[in-house]
Amino acid sequence: MRTRPLKVALLGCGVVGSEVARIMTTHADDLAARIGAPIELAGVAVRRPAKVREGIDPDLVTTDATALVKRGDIDVVVEVIGGIEPARTLITTAFEHGASVVSANKALLAQDGAALHAAAQEHKRDLYYEAAVAGAIPLIRPLRESLAGDKINRVMGIVNGTTNFILDKMDSTGAGYQEALDEATALGYAEADPTADVEGFDAAAKAAILAGISFHTRVRLDDVYREGMTEVTASDFASAKAMGCTIKLLAICERAADGGSVTARVHPAMIPLSHPLASVRGAYNAVFVESDAAGQLMFYGPGAGGAPTASAVLGDLVAVCRNKLSGSTGPGDSAYAQLPVSPMGEVVTRYHISLDVADKPGVLAQVATVFAEHGVSIDTVRQQGRQDGGGDASLVVVTHRASDASLNGTVEALRSLDTVRGVASIMRVEGE
Ligand code: HSE
Repeated sequence: MRTRPLKVALLGCGVVGSEVARIMTTHADDLAARIGAPIELAGVAVRRPAKVREGIDPDLVTTDATALVKRGDIDVVVEVIGGIEPARTLITTAFEHGASVVSANKALLAQDGAALHAAAQEHKRDLYYEAAVAGAIPLIRPLRESLAGDKINRVMGIVNGTTNFILDKMDSTGAGYQEALDEATALGYAEADPTADVEGFDAAAKAAILAGISFHTRVRLDDVYREGMTEVTASDFASAKAMGCTIKLLAICERAADGGSVTARVHPAMIPLSHPLASVRGAYNAVFVESDAAGQLMFYGPGAGGAPTASAVLGDLVAVCRNKLSGSTGPGDSAYAQLPVSPMGEVVTRYHISLDVADKPGVLAQVATVFAEHGVSIDTVRQQGRQDGGGDASLVVVTHRASDASLNGTVEALRSLDTVRGVASIMRVEGE
């Protein structure tokens, strides 16, 4: 075994970074044996240097991240600061000065993955980011390497633990969104500002990364259709239950049936209780992959948290260090397919639509005509008279598969009918 250590610079020492440093120390002998050389923490860039960091030599701590990545003796830079800048500049500077990079930065990879991969390739260095999607779950490497000989057609996942915790709480207790969010905040699952999670931004970044890797094409954050889950109600869960379904915030990446394009989207959807994703509870993540040869696969585990995310970072660190010792690099960017990303209007799925209608003769026929005029075929209709004496009824329509554009046209036309008092909810139905 080589005795001269490989040098690692850590950018960020928060929840994940401190766990990376801890595992590097406590597992040092095993990591050295697995890599074929010891690894040494050579510097830790932080914003608040005065903070006491247990197990980290204060002499290694610096506020000058740029100087650290420019040192020239660093073999691997581990970036766990998140956000676009300064992370992007630090990573490209690291490549320019000879280091490979391990990152957990989904927002940056989703936005600028192509440029970062190009920089890594130009300097013959590695860019690994297993921790960017679904925390500890091995997903990027299986998609990039284990399934490299297969053809992936669909990736559907729960890739945000905060929202899964909230939706699971609503499902199991009948709570409304705000009540479930308050509990998630009190227990530390939701951040003080939960926007990135509940509005689907976090999941959309992960969807962009997953779609690009799965379909060997370029999918950017802007290509991902996104709807958050703040409008999901207790009444939506009651409707889902009546259909034998639950509701999950899903990231769905699909190859079109003719193979000529792809789509990527994030939105709440009903899924049957019999689908494996329906049993993913609490803050767990899971990703269901469908491919030509392997068939159906599911990857499951903790999608966030210091130690689980550090596990994925350490796995990348070992791989990158092994590559460094053998003078090689691992698999880089694979976007050769150059498939267009279709707009949401072309996505085809089923819909559950809940309408408030006047309870009088001919209304059902009128509503059915609107669906027919837009080419949307109805699977089931359920009507329930209201007990409030107002003469209205709830009408629940579940469609066969239709395009999002056709469904939107249908809903717009329904809204203009005098007999339709309101569209209470529209929810996609997936996983059937
Ligand atoms: N905030 C994310 C989640 C974890 O709740 O899953 C980091 O991506």
